[in-house]
Amino acid sequence: MAPRPIIIDSDPGTDDAIAIWLALASPELDLLGVTTVAGNVPLALTSKNARKVCELAGRGDVKVFAGCSRPMLRPLVTAESFHGHDGLGHAPLPEPDMPLQPQHAVDWLVDSLMAAGDQGVTLCPIGPLTNIAMAIVKEPGILPRIREIVLMGGGFFAGGNTTPAAEFNIHVDPHAAQVVFTSGVPLTMMPLDVTHKALMTAERIAAVRALETPVAKAAAGMMASYGAHDAEKYARDGGPLHDPCVIAYLLEPAIFSGRDCNVRIETASEATMGMTVVDWWGSTEEPRNCRVIDEIDDDRFFKLLTERLAAL
Ligand code: RIB
Ligand code: CA
Repeated sequence: MAPRPIIIDSDPGTDDAIAIWLALASPELDLLGVTTVAGNVPLALTSKNARKVCELAGRGDVKVFAGCSRPMLRPLVTAESFHGHDGLGHAPLPEPDMPLQPQHAVDWLVDSLMAAGDQGVTLCPIGPLTNIAMAIVKEPGILPRIREIVLMGGGFFAGGNTTPAAEFNIHVDPHAAQVVFTSGVPLTMMPLDVTHKALMTAERIAAVRALETPVAKAAAGMMASYGAHDAEKYARDGGPLHDPCVIAYLLEPAIFSGRDCNVRIETASEATMGMTVVDWWGSTEEPRNCRVIDEIDDDRFFKLLTERLAAL
């Protein structure tokens, strides 16, 4: 079977880095490019980090495009406390040699999708949805060319991780999320409800570190630094590994389960700004616009991740 064309839209970000490595290690996927967005750290750093990550995996050929430097309406909120001021947990990755592509990420998204066949490309946003929303607003003709959007973001029973109501990616740009969730494109959402069941325990981090490759050693260091804060906050034996769940879903969907729901984005109240309002119990007649994933076989997930990272 031909590899599945995907585009990763990302704010690297330590867990983003691991998601990109998982995609690069998986021949089932054809990574057409990485588009970067401001999120965990400002755009200049997410764009540099995406190239550092690709080069460490020996993939200086991957096209990296810089996108939007701020949300559509709200001021940028970043997350250096989780990802370090460099955005990669201060992992000692070499400065990138590979160039940033000259085209703006939003323009490249539009051009590459318009050139694709119907349902040609799967979009994998793992940061704020600004680039995706701007591409949809700029050229609605891309919608039938998107096979599916599989995103990391949101939370419902698990609440939020940035405010009591909102998860970071949606909180940063709730208006972009509203554009995406009302676009009609087939959506699958990996919210905190599932990523909080994918815990980076010391044993799982050690298994990655034991691979002894440059990528694995960097990934293990990032897992340890990124997870520490949440492990303490949630009093668990490891922090959640969010973004790689998106890629793992494409590789082995049977690791996950969920249900089709109506999901709306709160953009009016400051108290719940960026909340993903999931109609899990079918209380309304609203369209079920999103597959909401809430369960994961975490042992299979970390086995897949470790096996694939060994290949890089
Ligand atoms: O809430 C977790 C999400 O926010 C992840 O994508 C992480 O990288 C940050 O972007
Ligand atoms: Ca991210």
